[in-house]
Amino acid sequence: MTELWLIGIGTGNPDHVTLEGQKALRDAATVLIPRKGAGKEDLAHLRLDILAASKTQARVVYVDMPERDDSLPYQTRVALWHDEIARRWQVALETVPEGPVALLVWGDPGLYDSTLRIAARLDPAPKLRVVPGITALQALTAAHAIPFNTVNGAVTVTTGRRLRDHGWPEGAETVIVMLDGACSFQSLDPTGLHIWWGAFLGMADQALDSGALAEAGPRIVERRAHARARHGWIMDTYLLRRDA
Ligand SMILES: C[S@@+](CC[C@H](N)C(=O)[O-])C[C@H]1O[C@@H](n2cnc3c(N)ncnc32)[C@H](O)[C@@H]1O
Repeated sequence: MTELWLIGIGTGNPDHVTLEGQKALRDAATVLIPRKGAGKEDLAHLRLDILAASKTQARVVYVDMPERDDSLPYQTRVALWHDEIARRWQVALETVPEGPVALLVWGDPGLYDSTLRIAARLDPAPKLRVVPGITALQALTAAHAIPFNTVNGAVTVTTGRRLRDHGWPEGAETVIVMLDGACSFQSLDPTGLHIWWGAFLGMADQALDSGALAEAGPRIVERRAHARARHGWIMDTYLLRRDA
């Protein structure tokens, strides 16, 4: 049975890889690296830097990632995309030498990441191992030196799409938003809300901003647009909290 190891690598700082992650990379026989196409080369380079730092002897196999069909409804588009990625992994797995196969997963494999869902499509099912990684949530709250939660408070983790479509989650006090390509906080009434925002967390170009949403929001929209234009892509996360 193929062993498939999903190794959380953190959010872009090679130092985020845990000792367990580094050891798993050294013990792997093969590492699959997704090739995401133009504009995302620096993410592939980061993975190669992490491999070099681990001193692994594993063979590297590249897997070209398919494009999503934006003409389809969201759920169908994502499901078909996952099917196609699984098919490409399956082809790659048939050619690899014996021994554990590792995938470097951004952040932690369990948080807003579909690697586990894609792995579940493989037939025969591989033996899975998950090595946890530092998430964008931790990278954000650490960068701002703020607690994730208030005393005895709950935290809602959600996506930009849900915030846009459904507004402020009912009864929420702290909301962390990921996967937001559109600064969806702009759809909220900013009264009484505070924002802590971070882009490229853990990376050389890390950008941070925070303040009352009414003042910081427009500033973040502008900073995000500039950073995105300069890099060609951006990853950002933010925490919103109601003033006590
Ligand atoms: C597909 S999800 C992956 C999340 C990842 N599995 C984790 O544990 O953080 C991608 C989202 O994570 C957040 N993210 C990941 N890396 C980030 C970084 N370096 N800086 C800011 N946000 C990041 C962004 O919200 C981005 O849209």
